Amino acid sequence: MIGTGYVGLVSGTCFADLGNKVICIDKDKSKIEKLNSGISPIYEPGLDELIKKNFASGRLIFTNDFKKAISKSELIFICVGTPNKQKSNDVDLSFVFKAAKEIAKSTKNKKIIITKSTVPVGTGDRIEKLLKKLKRKNLDIISNPEFLREGEAIRDFRFPDRIVIGSNEKKHFKILKKLYQPLINKGANFFTTSRRGAELIKYASNAFLATKITFINELANLCEKANINIEDISLGMGSDSRIGSRFLRAGPAYGGSCFPKDTKGLVSTGDKFKINLSIVKSVIKSNDNRKKVHTEKIKKILGSLKGKKIAFLGVTFKPNTDDMRDSVSLKMIPYLCKNGSKVTYYDPTGEKKEFKKIDNCKFKKNIKENCINADLIVLHTEWDEFKSIDFKRINKNKKLKIFDLRNLYSISEMSNKKLDYYSVGRPKIN
Ligand code: UDX
Repeated sequence: MIGTGYVGLVSGTCFADLGNKVICIDKDKSKIEKLNSGISPIYEPGLDELIKKNFASGRLIFTNDFKKAISKSELIFICVGTPNKQKSNDVDLSFVFKAAKEIAKSTKNKKIIITKSTVPVGTGDRIEKLLKKLKRKNLDIISNPEFLREGEAIRDFRFPDRIVIGSNEKKHFKILKKLYQPLINKGANFFTTSRRGAELIKYASNAFLATKITFINELANLCEKANINIEDISLGMGSDSRIGSRFLRAGPAYGGSCFPKDTKGLVSTGDKFKINLSIVKSVIKSNDNRKKVHTEKIKKILGSLKGKKIAFLGVTFKPNTDDMRDSVSLKMIPYLCKNGSKVTYYDPTGEKKEFKKIDNCKFKKNIKENCINADLIVLHTEWDEFKSIDFKRINKNKKLKIFDLRNLYSISEMSNKKLDYYSVGRPKIN
């Protein structure tokens, strides 16, 4: 497994747990040192134990000796990052091409290279061309995208809805089917297509999920004006099996390391083929604009932002991860501070470097300290530990204002005279 990030480390550990011998490599020596001393560089529930168990059994090895790892492996998974380029929607594939060159340099033997990183349509072709230039014809390239959600990655690996294998040569399907057989035996759908087909399925899936979320978020705006409860709409729509109820929860806006990146990546693929993916473009725009909707609402709730104390509960882009990438808080908190508010935040995964250099923004180490004397509490991330907060006890002598960005609390529970409760797409309690 080349790359020990969210994809490489989780997939490698889970492959080892299926009984395979797995070598994880990373150019970042400190990551490998940490892993060899039993410390996982990423926050993923359940991963530490799984790493320890498979490391102890000798099935899971961490090294930065690239050459040795490549020469001892039959299947080589490329799991390196494919971030967006700074100034465009394009995907930066430099780490992918670097890995391919290293593989070609490390062995003369026949190997099967599998791209598990999310790579734009045609990347397999480009790797093939690069290897041909290096006079390497015995390195096959296959696409096997992952569908792992942060916070649920082990579960998503073990119980995938589908395993997608993309190759231009049928013989590869047998080899990969053998590797995934234990999951197929438990009901996973093993799906084969062309290499470009597999590359597109990944982007199309993430872009569609982002579209579903953005669709329901826009309807939530309508519901607030029309005094309708968006949760009824999600249920009423979602019980149609053609629509499905998952990823139809109104919220702050989607964030994370995938949806923002992959929607832009898909648009750039469309542009390359001179096809205008107008729906995905409008999803990106709508999701970006949504952050302003919340700060406008806060201004309305508080009257003005100057000198107001605003306490955030959670700042990560979703629960059960420490990942801040494209989290809505990264836009909301600087804006509020710049407009004179004093922001505090508590997150179960601790203080964030992203907020350290912002004046008037302080990390608090527990919920009570964070919320005491707040003019407004913003429930930003739906961590389990926030479900049982007794807000009435936090500020005895003051009517607490709460803006629940995740509809975590029920309207009836929050309708008491001590609370001024706002949420997303649901009628205001009078
Ligand atoms: C996503 C895809 O789900 C996964 O298949 C892919 O491999 C990687 O990208 P991830 O980004 O980890 O996974 O998180 P996910 O759980 O999909 O949530 C993405 C964003 O959508 C989060 O900001 C989440 O809060 C938001 N979301 C999700 C909603 O706002 N409403 C929903 O109903 C579901």
